[in-house]
Amino acid sequence: MKIFKNKIDLIAYVDTLKSEKKTLGFVPTMGALHQGHASLIIKGLDQNDYVAVSVFVNPTQFDNQEDLVKYPRTLDSDVELLSTISEERIIVYAPTVDDIYGDNVISTSFSYDGLEHEMEGRFRDGHFDGVGTIVKRLFEIVRPNKAYFGEKDFQQLMIVKKLVEKHNMPVKVVGCKIHRAKDGLAMSSRNARLKEAYREAAPFIFKTLKIAKEKFGTKSANKVTEWVIKQFAKHDLLTLEYFIIADIKTLKTVSRKSNQKSYRAFIAVYADDIRLIDNIALN
Ligand code: PAJ
Repeated sequence: MKIFKNKIDLIAYVDTLKSEKKTLGFVPTMGALHQGHASLIIKGLDQNDYVAVSVFVNPTQFDNQEDLVKYPRTLDSDVELLSTISEERIIVYAPTVDDIYGDNVISTSFSYDGLEHEMEGRFRDGHFDGVGTIVKRLFEIVRPNKAYFGEKDFQQLMIVKKLVEKHNMPVKVVGCKIHRAKDGLAMSSRNARLKEAYREAAPFIFKTLKIAKEKFGTKSANKVTEWVIKQFAKHDLLTLEYFIIADIKTLKTVSRKSNQKSYRAFIAVYADDIRLIDNIALN
């Protein structure tokens, strides 16, 4: 497997692929790879000759320094997992902070037509400026034909689509379904940090989302939201940060349901000091 630690070498290698008319998929990640990441890479390999996977814990998208410091960094086992998927057709780009940012570790500010002010944008200050900065920079370095993003971070997926549209970037953004553990918990690099009791409690999040979906068939968004808040208030280990039912185009909280619109429920929960997010399509 080809592993690049700096952009100069990667750029030269991608130039060669392009001169050979090979197609390139791209899966940006922050490492600590799991089956959720693998599902994006496998889809990328189905649709392209090669797939580049970046492994980079991007400092500018963390609003919480402790979360940045504690974020798992496991490049060796990441490469091991990748080699079980494909030795020949995966390219790894694992840069240093310096290779990406030089000594200017700051983000550019972006407008995503208001998408950035909802949900994660409201609770994580500057997060989507950091995501936009790194994704744009990586797209410019890697120059993929298609890039794969998980619906696990649905707001991020919508924001990256908007970024590409606004900057006329020549890449097709492909959304991928949420990959879950057998017990329903959405896979996440953060799950490995959950203490046993919290890991056992965490599937409650998706169970509640599924019941909320059922209730949304007959009840108003407000009634469903009240019900979800009550379930978490009764829970000993999980603390609800937000539960929102939103229009998938604007990500604004729904006030009155319309048959013409598509909705999703979005949730953020603290399990101890670990923040977990999930979402579900409602109609
Ligand atoms: P990270 O959290 O590592 O996720 C990388 C990609 O994997 C994202 O597109 C995310 O939505 C997807 N993903 C994670 N868990 C998933 C699951 N259970 N099912 C399906 N897809 C899943 O998201 C980031 O990194 C960063 O913000 C990044 C885009 C790399 C920019 O730094």
